[in-house]
Amino acid sequence: MSDSEYPTYYHLLADRHATRKPLTYLEIGVHEGHSLGLVDSATRVVGVDPEPKIQGELGDNITIVSATSDDYFASEAGQRPFAGHPIEMAFIDGMHHVEFALRDFINIEARSAPDSVVLIHDCVPIDEETARRERSTVIWSGDIWKLIPFLRQHRPDLDITVHDVEPTGMAEITNLDPSNTSLSDRYDELVDELINMPWGSAD
Ligand SMILES: C[S@@+](CC[C@H](N)C(=O)[O-])C[C@H]1O[C@@H](n2cnc3c(N)ncnc32)[C@H](O)[C@@H]1O
Repeated sequence: MSDSEYPTYYHLLADRHATRKPLTYLEIGVHEGHSLGLVDSATRVVGVDPEPKIQGELGDNITIVSATSDDYFASEAGQRPFAGHPIEMAFIDGMHHVEFALRDFINIEARSAPDSVVLIHDCVPIDEETARRERSTVIWSGDIWKLIPFLRQHRPDLDITVHDVEPTGMAEITNLDPSNTSLSDRYDELVDELINMPWGSAD
């Protein structure tokens, strides 16, 4: 499917649920539960958000954890989100500062399988103003876009596809390596480079 067949990130996400039929799905940043509404009832789901605002009933297959993703992954439950079964599919849509998304990716990859998929929202910003770390606009993708050139440089083994879907793009990452610690080993050194990446680096 080309990107034009996915009008929005919701359409892309829905397609991946329908075609991959993951047994397990982890979502970081659930807000009102719109993206969570796309999961199949046969998928075991954990959604993590410090301020979930879910409207309506959720299926028995869905567990919501009211916590930041960092606190969740540091917790006992977050060590083994699905009792040891790998995360087959994940969606990172939480805090819009790139170092948070990097930590989410590191934590998710370590709990995934090589054939799992990680989707990351907000990787194709509309313009420089909506892509700043400081929020000044209604639509705000923050500096998540920096993660893509960063991962392409530091993890060339990953398969990364960037989908230019509305409103602010979605990255799809496969060929994961749960045993790879190259990002976490150098986190303190790499995070400065990541945060200070100048606008235009992804062009
Ligand atoms: C853009 S909304 C998520 C939208 C939802 N995924 C959808 O598509 O319907 C971002 C959410 O991330 C949550 N969030 C903010 N900081 C977070 C953190 N540190 N860990 C996890 N979630 C966080 C916010 O509370 C907010 O509900």
